Amino acid sequence: MHFTLCDLAADIAQNAAESGASVVEADFIETDEEFRFRLSDDGKGMTEAELERAKDPFHTDGKKHPGRRVGLGIPFLIQTASQTGGGWDIRSRKGSGTTVEARFDLTNLDAPPVGDVPGLVRTVLLFDGPGEVIVRRSYAGRRGATSYEVRKTELAEALGGLEDAGALVLLGKYLGSLEEAEEENER
Ligand SMILES: Nc1ncnc2c1ncn2[C@@H]1O[C@H](COP(=O)(O)OP(=O)(O)OP(=O)(O)O)[C@@H](O)[C@H]1O
Ligand SMILES: [Mg+2]
Repeated sequence: MHFTLCDLAADIAQNAAESGASVVEADFIETDEEFRFRLSDDGKGMTEAELERAKDPFHTDGKKHPGRRVGLGIPFLIQTASQTGGGWDIRSRKGSGTTVEARFDLTNLDAPPVGDVPGLVRTVLLFDGPGEVIVRRSYAGRRGATSYEVRKTELAEALGGLEDAGALVLLGKYLGSLEEAEEENER
């Protein structure tokens, strides 16, 4: 299987963005031993029964993919975390929102690679739906250290919107520069 932990996180972030939330908050915390994320939204939330169904790989609400009976995001996250020595936690309240947390042990031989974190940050910022997206990212390890927070509304204002190709290139470069702070700190 060729997927990364960032792919898993993007899927969960997409659920948050599709939940009708006005604010989505994302935390991506990485060391050489561990990758953790937390995604919170103030969207429609789930009842206990809905959450149980969402965790079941053989069930989907059928609205998004009519004809498909299997949802993948949450079950796949649970399966991957559980099978590679990680952990997960999902809390949801109908009408008020959902928080999904996951932790992965990068020293586990079966753990998928972390993948492209700045690309993930960009993806999460650009999902349609929420008016505000707040992303906090940190890395501390052999490559140095970086820690930053970005907000969709501030970036949109600085870049004159987040729609045209030029703005997206600038966004990518800006996120790349925040990631590289680490190597400079090292020197
Ligand atoms: N953050 C959330 N807020 C509200 N409901 C959620 C949230 N995350 C998941 N759900 C509910 O759980 C269901 C299953 O989610 P899952 O990601 O597994 O599949 P999906 O989103 O339906 O389809 P896919 O992710 O494969 O496109 C969703 O359809 C939705 O009803
Ligand atoms: Mg989904």
